[in-house]
Amino acid sequence: MPVPADRDQVESELAFLGEAHSGPVLAGRRAVYRVALSAGHPAPLTPAELTWAGRIAWRNHARCIGRLYWRTLTVRDHRHLDTADELAASLCEHLALAQGDGGVRSLLTVFAPPDRPGGPAPRIWNHQLGAYAGYRGRDGTILGDPKNAALTAQALVLGWLPPAVRSRFDLLPWIIAGRDGRPQLFPLPPGLVREVPLRHPDLPWFERLGLRWYAVPVISDMRLHAAGTDYPAAPFNGWYMGTEIGARNLADVDRYNLLPMIAEKLGLDRRSPRTLWRDRALVELNLAVLHSYAAEGVKLVDHHTASTEFMKFCEREKSAGRDVSARWDWIVPPLSPATTPVFHAPLHEFPTTPDFHGQPPAWA
Ligand code: ARG
Repeated sequence: MPVPADRDQVESELAFLGEAHSGPVLAGRRAVYRVALSAGHPAPLTPAELTWAGRIAWRNHARCIGRLYWRTLTVRDHRHLDTADELAASLCEHLALAQGDGGVRSLLTVFAPPDRPGGPAPRIWNHQLGAYAGYRGRDGTILGDPKNAALTAQALVLGWLPPAVRSRFDLLPWIIAGRDGRPQLFPLPPGLVREVPLRHPDLPWFERLGLRWYAVPVISDMRLHAAGTDYPAAPFNGWYMGTEIGARNLADVDRYNLLPMIAEKLGLDRRSPRTLWRDRALVELNLAVLHSYAAEGVKLVDHHTASTEFMKFCEREKSAGRDVSARWDWIVPPLSPATTPVFHAPLHEFPTTPDFHGQPPAWA
């Protein structure tokens, strides 16, 4: 756990407390934090302060287009949990609460931080709580999601028994290490992760492709950094934007690479890129994603609405006197980018705290 080195850094780490408190209370809390941090202890955040930290981390995160709703984040304070079994039980609750009846609640669960600088902390090995296996065959080809090939290999080494007949959409077990650092396997009970079968509003054959995706993305491998303290296990979720699934996960050449197959079914001429077979297939696939989630009653936002909401977020931040850190290449939707207002907005990124950060794979 990096301990803030100098006074200025400590002050910037603690600046967010000014939104939680004011006057003498604020001064008192800052003093308490300074003592804890300089002694190398985790920040003694109260549960209410942890909620502020989580919400502001979301508000700060440069890659997220959905930040208009940052105030609605529910934060679960599970900093007292540090064994793999405890984390697994808590993650089941997280999923159930987040999925709800399809309404999708934005949720962050914070588990134990390291107990001393550089000390061990629990860690979730999975990138997301619902994710599909990617089985690498002898010839190097992958069945399923190539993004998860490394984790799938780890699960198999740890003794995971995949379904007798492997498919493109087998949910991976969770791999969780408690403070003892020992990875444990938690196969998912059927039905724990809600999924949405994909169909198209006008093309009956689409449903027979057998495509699906899970309802809610719960990111479980990022580290929350707040008040000079790292929380390496702090899974969070919002709801999906359609293009994440339809224009990236299912479409990218190094993911499910489905555009050639869909173009084929659509009867498009793939001999020249100029027929725009990729673009036409992409639109139909994205239409199917939007249609299917709506039909199943699972909340998911389209990229036009999300872009408009992001512009509103920027305006509100400006009137609150805050600058917005944002990465253009992450915010601009991958489908019809220039038809959305964010394409034309000047965006820039700068360091923020609290924030969520990537971290090296737990097994590296
Ligand atoms: N892009 C990732 C995926 O497709 C999810 C990232 C978080 N997305 C979100 N809407 N909160 O699974």
